Amino acid sequence: MPLLPLLLSALAATSLAATLLPRQTSSITVDLTKTYQTMNGFGMSETFQRANQMHALSPALQRYSLDLLFNRTSGAGFSILRNGIGSSPDSSSDHMISIQPKSPGGPSAAPKYVWDGNDNSQVWVSTEAVKTYGVSTVYANAWSAPGYMKTNNNDANGGSLCGVSGATCSSGDWRQAYADYLVQYITYYRELGVEITHVGFLNEPDLTTSYASMRSNGAQAADFIKVLRPTLDKNNMTAVSIACCDAEGWSSQSGMMGSLGSVDAMLGTVTAHSYTSQPGSPINTKHPVWQTENADLQGAWTAAWYSSNGAGEGLLWANKIYDAIVKANCSAYLYWVGVQGGATNSKLVRISDDKKTVTPSKRLWAFANWSRHVRPGAVRVGTSGSPSGAKVSAFKNVDGSVSVQVIQGGTASGTVGVKVGGFTVGKAKAWITDNTRDCDELAATVGSDGSVSASVPGRSMVTFVLEPAS
Ligand SMILES: *[C@@H]1O[C@H](CO)[C@@H](O)[C@H](O)[C@H]1NC(C)=O
Ligand SMILES: *[C@@H]1O[C@H](CO)[C@@H](O)[C@H](O)[C@H]1NC(C)=O
Ligand SMILES: *[C@@H]1O[C@H](CO)[C@@H](O)[C@H](O)[C@H]1NC(C)=O
Ligand SMILES: *[C@@H]1O[C@H](CO)[C@@H](O)[C@H](O)[C@H]1NC(C)=O
Repeated sequence: MPLLPLLLSALAATSLAATLLPRQTSSITVDLTKTYQTMNGFGMSETFQRANQMHALSPALQRYSLDLLFNRTSGAGFSILRNGIGSSPDSSSDHMISIQPKSPGGPSAAPKYVWDGNDNSQVWVSTEAVKTYGVSTVYANAWSAPGYMKTNNNDANGGSLCGVSGATCSSGDWRQAYADYLVQYITYYRELGVEITHVGFLNEPDLTTSYASMRSNGAQAADFIKVLRPTLDKNNMTAVSIACCDAEGWSSQSGMMGSLGSVDAMLGTVTAHSYTSQPGSPINTKHPVWQTENADLQGAWTAAWYSSNGAGEGLLWANKIYDAIVKANCSAYLYWVGVQGGATNSKLVRISDDKKTVTPSKRLWAFANWSRHVRPGAVRVGTSGSPSGAKVSAFKNVDGSVSVQVIQGGTASGTVGVKVGGFTVGKAKAWITDNTRDCDELAATVGSDGSVSASVPGRSMVTFVLEPAS
C-alpha cells in the first residue's frame, strides 16, 4: 500500500493551508443546561512495586514525585489512585504480596491474614495522596485471587475462582473466602485512615499472563458479585462501589455487560482498559464508566508534547482523554503507571537509571490540563462552535466554576472566545500546554459581552477556567 506518499501529500496540504490562512477568530458557546455524565476524576497506579521505586528515592525526590502526581498547582492534581490488592505468596521480582500468602486449609477454615502495614509502599503513597493532597477516591483492584482459591492453584497463569459457574474445585467453593479477603484488605486501609472507595476483583479477565491473572467471563463475575456485595454491606462498607471488570479493551468489556445484568443493582462502576480496543462509544450501562488503564507500553521514553503524533506524545494523550470522555461517556481516565524507572513510556514520570533525577513527560501535563480543572463531581456540559480542527469539551465544577478544554491538534491558530450562557464571569484564566509550555498561564481577557478570549496556537491544549461573579 502506497501509504507514505499519501500521508506526505496530506501533510503538505495541511501546512500550505496553515501558511495561507489568516489567524481566525472563533467562538465557543457553553450550554450549562445541557448536561452529560458526572466526573469522578483522573489517576494512575503505583502497583507491582512501582510504589517501592518511588519510596526508594531521596526525600526531596519523593516529595517532587508526589507533587507531580497529586499537587493541583505544581503537578497533575490526580484525584484517583488505583492500588493493587496482592495475590502472590511472596514479594520477589515485582510481585504483589498477598495478605494471606498461605492457604488457611480450606474455604471455611479460620483465615490466617498477615499484614505488614506497608503493602509494597502502597500504604505510603495512599496515605500521602489522601492526607497530604486530599485525594478522596482510592480504587483497590485485585489482579487475581490467591492461587489456593483457584482452579489452577496459582495466582499467575489464568485459572478461575473456585465456585463460580464452570469452575469446580476439590477444595470447595472459595467465593465467600475471597469476598472476606477483599473486605479484610479494605479494613487494613480503613484502620490507617485511608478509605477505599472502589473495589475490583478482576484485572484483564480476558487474558492469561505469567504474572497475577485470573480468567472470568461476565456470568462468572456475576456469580462472585452476588457474594461480594452482601459481604461488603455486612461489614459497614455499603459505600464501597464494586468495580468490574477491567477487561483488556473497550469491546471486550462491552461484551461482558449482558451477563452482568442479573447483578446490575449490586454493580457500582464499570471499568475497562484500552489496549485491545479504544473507547470510541459509550458502554451500555447506567453506571459510571471508568477507563482504568492505558499506556504506551513499548515506545522508547519520550517527554515530547508534539513531534510526529507518536504513541507517547502529550498531544496524542490529550486527544485520547477527550475521546474517552466526550465520545465514550467516561467519568474517569487513568494511565497505567505514574512514577517508575525504565526506558519505555509505560509511565508518566521517569526515574533516571541512577535514581538521581525524576522527569515528567508531557503526557503528565496533558492529564494535568484535565485533572486540575475537572474535579470530582464536575458535570460535563454541552458546547457548540469550535476553532477549525479543534476538540472542545466543557464541565461545570461543584464549586460553580466552568472549565473548557480546547485541544488544537492541527496547525490552525487564532483567538478563541468562550461564552457561557446564563453565567456572569467573575475571574477568568487560561492555561496552555504545548511543546515549550507546561500548564503555563495564558493571557485571557473578559469582553464587554461576557465572553473570555485567549489566543490558541496550533498543536496545543488550552484550558479556560471561568469563575462566577460573586
Ligand atoms: C503544591 O505545590 C505548591 C507549589 O509548589 C506548594 O506551595 C504546595 O505546598 C503544594 N501542596 C501540597 C499539598 O503539598
Ligand atoms: C463505618 O465506617 C465508617 C467509614 O466509612 C466509619 O466512620 C464508622 O466508624 C464505621 N462504623 C462502625 C460501626 O464501624
Ligand atoms: C453516561 O454515563 C452516565 C453515568 O455516568 C449514564 O447515566 C448515562 O446514561 C450515560 N450516557 C450514555 C449515552 O451512555
Ligand atoms: C495544561 O498543561 C500545561 C502544561 O503542559 C499548562 O501550561 C497548562 O496550564 C495546562 N492547562 C491547564 C488547564 O491546566
